[in-house]
Amino acid sequence: MKEIDICSLKMNPFVDFGDNWMALAAGTEEHGYNAMTIAWGHMGALWERDSHSNRLPTAICYVRPGRYTKKFMDSEPYFTLCSFGPEYKKALGYLGSHSGRNGDKIKETGLTTVYSDGTTYFAEADTVYICRTLYHAPLLESGFVDKELVDFNYPNRDFHEVYIGEIRKVFVKE
Ligand SMILES: Cc1cc2nc3c(=O)[nH]c(=O)nc-3n(C[C@H](O)[C@H](O)[C@H](O)COP(=O)(O)O)c2cc1C
Repeated sequence: MKEIDICSLKMNPFVDFGDNWMALAAGTEEHGYNAMTIAWGHMGALWERDSHSNRLPTAICYVRPGRYTKKFMDSEPYFTLCSFGPEYKKALGYLGSHSGRNGDKIKETGLTTVYSDGTTYFAEADTVYICRTLYHAPLLESGFVDKELVDFNYPNRDFHEVYIGEIRKVFVKE
């Protein structure tokens, strides 16, 4: 893996999240960790630290309250997003249909965990985004302007929690 400048990335978030899916991981070797598949997310620019700084490169992901991964999203300062080549879609399907609460699902996928930069990611990833959580809050039912989305996506009212992370580093496969 080599670190690259985020501005040199040639990625399409619509394809990378929506079609190809990503692994969302959080935690450390010391404190424990977990990963799950996500297909909903955003990347872009948001906020600045002072009037001289550029807008922060940020990634947003959405995690339902019941996910075991959320425990590590909430207790650790960093999370990672990994995108993979098509040969890992089966592994992502597994991470997205089994809970780490019930066993070592990462072992079952054959993915190699890398403990680095205060967090966890996968050696097989094409691109790894190391993110530091800046903001975390649940989506509110009262915020939905299009109410039809609520019944379709949240029949149990288990609204996603939004995590906005500053992308601190980007690694790509060498
Ligand atoms: C293609 C796909 C996309 C998913 N996207 C999300 C998502 O964006 N947010 C979410 O909370 N769960 C999403 N899930 C569900 C979680 O990945 C799934 O519930 C997983 O088993 C949670 O694992 P955990 O309990 O070990 O954290 C997705 C699952 C799949 C298969």
